[in-house]
Amino acid sequence: MRRPRRNRKSEGIRALVREHEVTVKDLIFPLFLIEGEKTKTEVSSMPGIYRFSQDLLLKEIESCLKLGINAFALFPNVNEELKDKYATESHNVQSTYLKTISAIKQEFPETVLMTDVAMDPYSSDGHDGIVKNGEILNDETLIVLGKMALAQARAGADIVGPSDMMDGRIGYIREVLDDGGFEKVSIMAYTAKYASAFYGPFRDALNSAPKAGDKKTYQMDFANQAEALIEAELDFAEGADFLMVKPALPYLDVIKLLFDNFEVPIAAYNVSGEYAMVKAAAKNGWIDGEKAMVESLTSIKRAGAKIILTYFAKEFAQLRK
Ligand code: PBG
Repeated sequence: MRRPRRNRKSEGIRALVREHEVTVKDLIFPLFLIEGEKTKTEVSSMPGIYRFSQDLLLKEIESCLKLGINAFALFPNVNEELKDKYATESHNVQSTYLKTISAIKQEFPETVLMTDVAMDPYSSDGHDGIVKNGEILNDETLIVLGKMALAQARAGADIVGPSDMMDGRIGYIREVLDDGGFEKVSIMAYTAKYASAFYGPFRDALNSAPKAGDKKTYQMDFANQAEALIEAELDFAEGADFLMVKPALPYLDVIKLLFDNFEVPIAAYNVSGEYAMVKAAAKNGWIDGEKAMVESLTSIKRAGAKIILTYFAKEFAQLRK
């Protein structure tokens, strides 16, 4: 009799036949930056996740490095008075965000630092593009994104991450970077980024929710799969070094689809709402949070994501120590 249970009979056998295993090296830890000094505020909808001022952020990175986490994605919480329609602060060389990128790369040159290219944290409209008469302008937005990406590359970014979903932005940013002498700076495209309810806690963290309307004219409809291939074909052709799917858990089919069809590494963003759900249930004693974390991350890797952006990175690394 064929007995599949023989391959599960002990932890030793299970370890031998295990097909996928997440390691700390697969993870990118998203970090939130705020203005000021010696400031650290917890995001209420994301227990264990903080917004750090630059000085404390550097300390946080140091402690992550000791745990083996080497890759970070940095997001800015921008003061309301610095926001405007054109996200000017996003390419102001004196901005806290750009100065912090330089400080991180100066102090910890070995880190892989990914930056966020999108207007929303700096936009008085809370949108990823320029808003005119209620519409999000595509090609005008590209110009802002190009300036932002170039400024981040100058500050020392290793990877720029366009999370805006404007058409043509990968090719446009690639050209701007190459013309600026930054041909070595990588692009991780937020390729299949869905208009998702799971971004709620992130928008709390950055205070970046749209002031009017929603993001459905640029982020993808969650009912669609084939459309992800169109986005992926474009991003690949335009020069993306990595293709990302976001969110992760409700979109494992999309991760698998891109994994099966493209040779570049696939990344997945295990977003704020996915983190918040596990934390909330665990806090209530309804699930074992640690086990749910490992199972979630492993399923994302099993679907085909080599790289996982996750707020669990530090907790996972501590567990593996
Ligand atoms: C916006 C951006 C969002 C996230 C990353 N970049 C939110 C949005 O599109 O509104 C969400 C990440 C998360 O929820 O963890 N450019």
